[in-house]
Formats: sequence, structure tokens, C-alpha cells
Amino acid sequence: MEFRKISAAEAAALIQNGQTIGLSGFTPAGVPKSVPAEIAKKAEVEHAEGRPYKINIFTGASTGQSCDGAMANAQAIGFRAPYTTNPDFRKHVNLNELAYSDLNLSNMATQIRQGYLGDVNWAIIEACAIEKVGNKAHIYLTAAGGISPTVCRLATEGIIIELNAFHEPSCMGIHDVYEIQDHPYRTPIMITKASDRIGKPYIEVDADRIIGVVECNIPDEARAFKDPDPVTNQIGQNVADFLLANLKSGKIPSSFLNLQSGVGSGANAVLGALGHCPEVPNFSIYTEVLQDAPVQLMRDGRVLSASACSLTVTNECLKGIYRDMDFFRDKLVLRPSEISNCPEVIARIGVCSLNTAIEADIYGHVNSTKICGTKMMNGIGGSADFTNNAYLSIFTCGSTTKGGAISSIVPFCSHIDHTNHFIDAVITEYGVADLRGKSDMQKAQEIIKVAHPDYRPLLQDYLRYAEKFSGHTHHCLSAAFAMHDTFLRKGDMRLTDLAEYVK
Ligand code: COA
Repeated sequence: MEFRKISAAEAAALIQNGQTIGLSGFTPAGVPKSVPAEIAKKAEVEHAEGRPYKINIFTGASTGQSCDGAMANAQAIGFRAPYTTNPDFRKHVNLNELAYSDLNLSNMATQIRQGYLGDVNWAIIEACAIEKVGNKAHIYLTAAGGISPTVCRLATEGIIIELNAFHEPSCMGIHDVYEIQDHPYRTPIMITKASDRIGKPYIEVDADRIIGVVECNIPDEARAFKDPDPVTNQIGQNVADFLLANLKSGKIPSSFLNLQSGVGSGANAVLGALGHCPEVPNFSIYTEVLQDAPVQLMRDGRVLSASACSLTVTNECLKGIYRDMDFFRDKLVLRPSEISNCPEVIARIGVCSLNTAIEADIYGHVNSTKICGTKMMNGIGGSADFTNNAYLSIFTCGSTTKGGAISSIVPFCSHIDHTNHFIDAVITEYGVADLRGKSDMQKAQEIIKVAHPDYRPLLQDYLRYAEKFSGHTHHCLSAAFAMHDTFLRKGDMRLTDLAEYVK
């Protein structure tokens, strides 16, 4: 190797209190693991010796336990952006022990470049290979694009590579690395279909900016998905029926649309169900995370090509892709997040977005991020990047959660990430609320139809109470959160007595 080998502990020793690290990866896929874990250990030692030690973290999206989890537990994080899914990190964020900024993922690299978030001192990048070509280094990323090109270019102190042998060299070439220019010199991004490639398969930097290479062999920290269940299967079927009806009526083109699907078990199951519906034509995917179900659909010939930022798949699925790279090479492309989620491309190529809501309200506003308006779940991710620019924007959710004690359809979302201006349909296991061409009051009737039957009378009662406060939209503000408040006090929204709240 022509680069200086260092240990993870030596790399961690370079990162000083108050500095900012920019990480490769997007979701636990492609995130460096050995150096962050050592930084967490270093923080514990520093704190034990009475010295302050907190650093700032910029990532593409969430990371895994050895990064977000270990560092949050070690009180090593001052500021972090953007998306996260780690339960330990979530616990510390909700205790307000660290500053967390949730951003649209398409915007993360741009905001770093604009200087909005401050300097990046170190880029820590997981690679499957690094080559020296003249005075340049070519860095081959692993399972995700994320913000790597931007943090590699901007890191003031240099770049640390985690050369992870878990990712086989066969994955060289899966990436299309393309960084958009700074404003006002941006040019159109010449992607017209999911499989287009417009960049290079590696990140190119000056070789002397590589400060050290840490060798390791660590699997990705992907989470397992919950198995599809009757509810997610029914939602998938309802999505398929809705898309087919739109195809037949000519509301979506006969050549079909590129599909985007969100994160989590729900999205994985819905896309799987859609792919197994024989009447849905073969399709391409333009999305941010590719989960297990669509990878299988690629193998089955149902998904023709896929553009994503990360392979957020189980390790078994990932190894299968590496093994069969000859099959996947011309069908699958990983991009930096500002390209995979680029509003301009999404709006132009025609995407049907399928994201999962925590809750939707009767007027079609959606909460993707905060439980009962206060507790951060994961973050907005790329859901707004896609929803706001899609040809057809769909949110799905089970009609209830926590054994029926929580309705996902509520009078007023306790937090709103997506306004109804951008949402075409809300789909539960009870059917499709088609919101297109409807007034707010018409949307309310449409959405109550897809609520769980236990909650429909309560939601209709709310509308009746709200009528006396009628405007374009009817709301009784003192009762708008009655269901949430009852859940917090009594543990079950079904116990809501609206009359108690109406003033
Ligand atoms: N109130 C309280 N808790 C709720 C809830 C609600 N209205 N809706 C869901 N939950 C809880 C579930 O009970 C579950 O809890 P558990 O982990 O204790 O079992 C948890 O939230 C996750 O819900 P689940 O039904 O398993 O959904 P999921 O894995 O499909 O994830 C989101 C759903 C919304 C959390 C996930 O899609 C997300 O993070 N979305 C935001 C980002 C995004 O959309 N990115 C995609 C862009 S490509």
C-alpha cells in the first residue's frame, strides 16, 4: 500500500475536542465503524480525566451503533446533522443532551458547501479500495454515496480512510460520483433515466490529503426488517390497485413511473407487495435507500434498473449483490445524496413517491418525524425531497399502532413535516384516500374513510364539534390534540372524550 497505515486509535487521537468530522455512508450502509468507535472510547477517557471532549458529526443520513450509538452514549457529540435511526442516539436527543439538526437529505452537502454548518475538519471515509494514480488518490466507496465527495473536498485537516475488507473489491464501479457545482454556476444534471451515469466510479483527491488508512473487516450494521404482515401486505395491494387504476385512466403514463420507496419495514413490505402484483408493469426505481425487497425484484426482472444513494440491505443481501455484480453492474447505480435526492431530477424524470407516515391528519398533512409532537423518531430523511417533487406523492401507514391504542389518522398532526399541498394520496390497509382535486373538507371525508373503524366515529365527532369554528378548514383548537393528550394521560386514544376538550 502506498498510503500510511494507522490504527483506528491513532486516527481517533487526531480528532480534537470541538472539531467536526464528515462521514461517508447513508443509513448504516457505508459508514466508517472502527474510527468512530475509537472516538467514543477516547471521549470516555477524556471525560474520566476531567477534560471536555465533544465533536460535531456531519453524515449523509443515519449511521449505526458503533457511530451514533457509541458516541451518543459516550456524550461525545456536540452537534449532529442530519437523519438518524439509532435508538441510543434517539434517547439522548430526546433528553436534549446534544444539538441535533434535522435537514432534507438532498440539502446536506449543499449546506456544508455553503458554510451554513461550519467547517468540516476531517473526512472519515469507508472504502473498498484506494489507488494512487500519479499525485491523486482514487477512493472507491462501499455501500453508500452520502456526502463523501463534498466532505473529502472540504475537510480542512485531511482524509482518513477506513479500508474495510468486508466490502469486496467487486463493488468497485457501483458508484457514479458526481458533485454539483456551487451556486450560481450550477448546470443541469444530465440524468434522464435511473441507470444513467454522469460521473466517475471513484472520488478523486490529492493523494497527500490522505492522512492515514485504517484497515478493518467489519460488517455493515444494517437493521433487520420486520416481516411483512397482513396489514403491510394489504397496504401494498391497495397501493398497487391505486397505481393500476391511475394507469388505466391515463393519469399516469403507460410507460409507468420511476418508483421511490421510503425507509423502514413498512416501505420494504409495500414495495415487495407491489412487485408481486402481476398487473403492475415492470418498473425502474429512483430512490435514496434500496432495501432487500427491491433487490429481490431486480433479480426477478420486475425492477429494470435502480438509482439509489445506499444499499440499506441485510448483510446477506449485500454479499449477494457483490457476488453477482456482473448481473447488477448495468442495472444498479449508487449516487451522492444530493444527486439521488435531487429535486430537479426527481421532478423531471417522473417519480411516484411512496413514503411512510407516523401520522396523517384529516386534511392530509403528514408527520414523519415526531411522536406526539415532541419526541424525535428518526428525522425527515429524503421524504420531502421526493414528496415535494414527485409526479404522484403517496404516504402509507397502518391505520393504528401499539395494538390499536394509537390512531395514525388524527384530527391535527402533532407535528407537520409535509403539508397537504404536496400529498396526492394517503393509503392504509382500509383503502386509498385520493386527495387530488379536493377541498380541505372533501379531503377530511376521504381520509376518515381509511382510518381504523374504531376511530372513524371519533374523527367524525371531531368534525361536528369543529363545524362551529368553520372557515375554509374546520378546527376546534382546544380539541385538536385531544386524542394525543388522552394517549399521553391514559395510554389509549380510544378513551378520548371530545366533550371534555371542546370549549
Ligand atoms: N405514534 C406513536 N408511535 C408510532 C406512531 C404514532 N403515530 N406511528 C408509528 N409509531 C412507532 C411504531 O409503533 C414503531 O414503534 P416500535 O419501534 O416501538 O415498534 C415505530 O414507530 C416504527 O414504526 P413502524 O410501523 O415499524 O414503521 P417503519 O419501520 O415502517 O418506520 C417511520 C416508519 C415513519 C418511522 C420511517 O418510515 C421514517 O423514519 N420515516 C421518515 C424518513 C423517511 O420517510 N425517509 C424516506 C425517504 S426515502
